[in-house]
Amino acid sequence: MFIRKRRFGEGDIPSSEITPYELYLDRRRFLAHGATLAGVAVLAPSVLGATETEEDERTPYEDITHYNNYYEFGTGKEDPAKYSGDFVPRPWTVTVEGECSNPGTFALDDFLKGHEIVEPVYRMRCVEAWSMVIPWRGVRLRDVIMRAQPTGKAEFVEMTTVLRPAQMPGQRRRILPWPYVEGLRLDEAMNELTILATGIYGKDLLNQNGAPLRLVTPWKYGFKGVKSIVKMRFTSDMPENTWQVMAPNEYGFYANVNPEVDHPRWSQARERRIGEFRRRPTLMFNGYGEQVAHMYRGMDLTKWY
Ligand code: MTE
Repeated sequence: MFIRKRRFGEGDIPSSEITPYELYLDRRRFLAHGATLAGVAVLAPSVLGATETEEDERTPYEDITHYNNYYEFGTGKEDPAKYSGDFVPRPWTVTVEGECSNPGTFALDDFLKGHEIVEPVYRMRCVEAWSMVIPWRGVRLRDVIMRAQPTGKAEFVEMTTVLRPAQMPGQRRRILPWPYVEGLRLDEAMNELTILATGIYGKDLLNQNGAPLRLVTPWKYGFKGVKSIVKMRFTSDMPENTWQVMAPNEYGFYANVNPEVDHPRWSQARERRIGEFRRRPTLMFNGYGEQVAHMYRGMDLTKWY
């Protein structure tokens, strides 16, 4: 069957092609009532990512948007929702620089324009041992990178959060070295799973989730998912990511989910899915080994944490 790809900037998305918010909710209700998964798949084909574990029930929108880590708005889980009201996510520009042939500063709409819209549902495992299942909307980072045309010297891509202490109360305190920075090896950035997200449950990202643009790498701990990105820089050197700079004995560059390597202060063997009571086992690469394990062949994953 031919399914026309939806792309950013092609005018309004016909409502028939959008998975309505209600339908996501319906699917949850369906699951709650024990509907067969096959039936659900027919009901909402566009929300089923190929990599999704069918049993994973989506985390409610309310939890995804009110249990957050975004230290620019405070360190409490409810702070980002509470204190991000003054943040203005539009207009927005993204600067592309470093080892690439097509650098520049682009208005967000131009930056996204023409890229296929993807809506994967991914598990997110925070390094603090809780997890969620989030239906994202966005573009593949790979598509963005191809347009930037990295040179032969580019081995990594670094991404930086906006610095706006006037709108981000956490940045007025020295909680972290601001701005927040993250990075990926170029092959990780080009992996089919890696996206730049612009939405959740078919709606634009709220400020607390990293509006208007944030990184999502579902096989890595959540802190790799840098929010409110204003800069992408291609480099030949491994970028210094914020949490590694803060606590090098606790956080690494790769940050691949690995139940066998404990955090120095707690076990990573199990996790609490938000909304559930009992802890469940954490999966190697958060269950995405098939898509990503090949990138780390030959690396000692206990050392390269
Ligand atoms: N990005 C910035 N700029 N600042 C942050 O504090 N927290 C990270 C990551 N991205 C963080 C960030 C952490 S620790 C996690 S677990 C995820 O965002 C949480 O994303 P969520 O709040 O959308 O669930």
